Amino acid sequence: MSLKENYITTRKRFKTICEPLQIEDYSVQPAVFVSPPKWHLAHSTWFFEQFILSTYVEDYQVYNDDFAYLFNSYYNNAGKRVLRPNRGLMTRPSVEDVFAYRDYVDKHMLEFFNSELNATVRTTIKLGINHEQQHQELFYYDIKYILGNQPTFPAISNQVELPLDIGASNTVTIAEGLYTIGHDNDSFCYDNEQGVHQVFLQTFEISTSLVKNSEYIEFIEAGGYQDFNLWHAEGWDFIQTEQIVAPLYWHKVDGVWHHYTLDGFKPVAVNEPVMHISFYEAFAFAEWKGMRLPTEFEWEVASKQLNWGALWEWTNSAYLPYPNFTKAEGALGEYNGKFMINQMVLRGASVATVKNHSRSTYRNFFHPQMRWQFSGIRLVK
Ligand code: AVJ
Ligand code: FE
Repeated sequence: MSLKENYITTRKRFKTICEPLQIEDYSVQPAVFVSPPKWHLAHSTWFFEQFILSTYVEDYQVYNDDFAYLFNSYYNNAGKRVLRPNRGLMTRPSVEDVFAYRDYVDKHMLEFFNSELNATVRTTIKLGINHEQQHQELFYYDIKYILGNQPTFPAISNQVELPLDIGASNTVTIAEGLYTIGHDNDSFCYDNEQGVHQVFLQTFEISTSLVKNSEYIEFIEAGGYQDFNLWHAEGWDFIQTEQIVAPLYWHKVDGVWHHYTLDGFKPVAVNEPVMHISFYEAFAFAEWKGMRLPTEFEWEVASKQLNWGALWEWTNSAYLPYPNFTKAEGALGEYNGKFMINQMVLRGASVATVKNHSRSTYRNFFHPQMRWQFSGIRLVK
């Protein structure tokens, strides 16, 4: 697919995945970590306007002078912005205006594709496309949270959370030795995957399947959430303060665990992988099993022999720069590097990830308490 086709397909997809929404769904922010769907639609558009059109197109006129302030997420180099907790206060611009903004930027981008694009511009457009794909995934986390916290548990899609196969329950043994880590070809990747380097691994055995709901229910019923010995101090404080006794979206009805999915409220399928757990819960579960989480390096090396992609898998690796990490000058240097503190790496991909937006070197990252993303558990001995 050409860059232009990739752009068109990606931009269209956001409109398509919004089709099941009602107008009221677009603007709310039920928690600080959730962004309103309308904000995602506008922010991913602003990214192209800011880093492509305003930067490379002579005499380009922005759609609206206020939008950089409204839809810049966290780029200090790109100026001031509405603070994250206030994203849900914006009932203006309207959804209609945001879609008109998308059309305006698309029109100018398509014109721009008719000119000769140098390597830097093409790389930045690729980043913009991948950025929009990340926001399409975040959109699913956010709309699930928006709808999953309503008394009526509205369903919007039976296409996203399809029944998941945990894969065959086996283990793979990886021999001790030096292994090469990082992205090593010309295809797109983020700056945080670059800097190929060697890592020494001790022999380990990794499970070919994700942890099942039935196993996780055993952990709950065995008092896992009450046994402080299984938890990090921070994790224990977190579940006490938040009164957490099960994965996010789980509710016990007449003695049976149910959960909200994008396909509605239903009994938890015991043979499907557990999801919506924090790093703290993944760690405590592993402790209870007498096993551990893989490091991100173990995961990357073993990945060729694993069936992955159903859920983002928590690793026991802190999100840190690789030895030769370098970031771009200016605003785009803020994309990943400045978050390399106090977060954990997740590997894989999820049901909400855009096809082809995944590879075995991909490093996703979230704070250890986050569980609204589609996260799961794989164990190592
Ligand atoms: C990689 C998912 C943690 O949510 O901020 C979006 C993705 N980066 N815009 C995030 C991202 C810039 C990022 N995560
Ligand atoms: Fe973003």
